[in-house]
Amino acid sequence: MVTSREKMSALSELYQEIAVCRRCDLFKSRTKAVPGEGSENAEIMFIGEAPGWHEDQQGRPFVGPAGQYLDELLALINLKREQVYIANVIKSRPPGNRDPLPTEIAACHPWLDRQIEIIQPKMIVTLGRYSMAKFFPGKSISKIHGTAQRQDDVIYFAMYHPAAALHQGGLRGVIEEDMRKIPVLLAEAKNVAEVKPAPQQLNMFGS
Ligand code: URA
Repeated sequence: MVTSREKMSALSELYQEIAVCRRCDLFKSRTKAVPGEGSENAEIMFIGEAPGWHEDQQGRPFVGPAGQYLDELLALINLKREQVYIANVIKSRPPGNRDPLPTEIAACHPWLDRQIEIIQPKMIVTLGRYSMAKFFPGKSISKIHGTAQRQDDVIYFAMYHPAAALHQGGLRGVIEEDMRKIPVLLAEAKNVAEVKPAPQQLNMFGS
């Protein structure tokens, strides 16, 4: 059993390494690397795409308009950002907020993998296409948003990116409805884990 202290120390070491990372060329243009933040004991980990301008300035994930909306979405299910863990697929801002390149994603994956290994969340929520692609390869966000898959006792749940809902008002209702499924899925998974180990299907899960 890993203690909170051990997790915090592993995270702090990881943040120091990410701060000076030069695994891809994004280090040349970034102001600050954005490793991620939140509770080391978080049950839920939200994974976005890449830092934008605000995140690059502050070195913190989801602190611009999309982040404010993410905070509102968390409030819908009575959570504060301090209670979850928030990270991105890419730890440094792509110039002009362009889409991350496959080489950048590949270079950055080991950081995210280490974060997941340290936090050991019960649920991973992907925000947007790039994050979804890591856990739901080959799937389309319009088809699988709001559905979950369970693997090795972790629930993977796909959502639209909060920025998409800011740009397309019509998505707000959808993203909020998806958000409200999170506590239900988490509670259900915990119940199932207690009653009968290693189930493959939960209600609400997509195929
Ligand atoms: N969009 C993201 O995907 N991540 C952030 O941290 C901010 C905006």
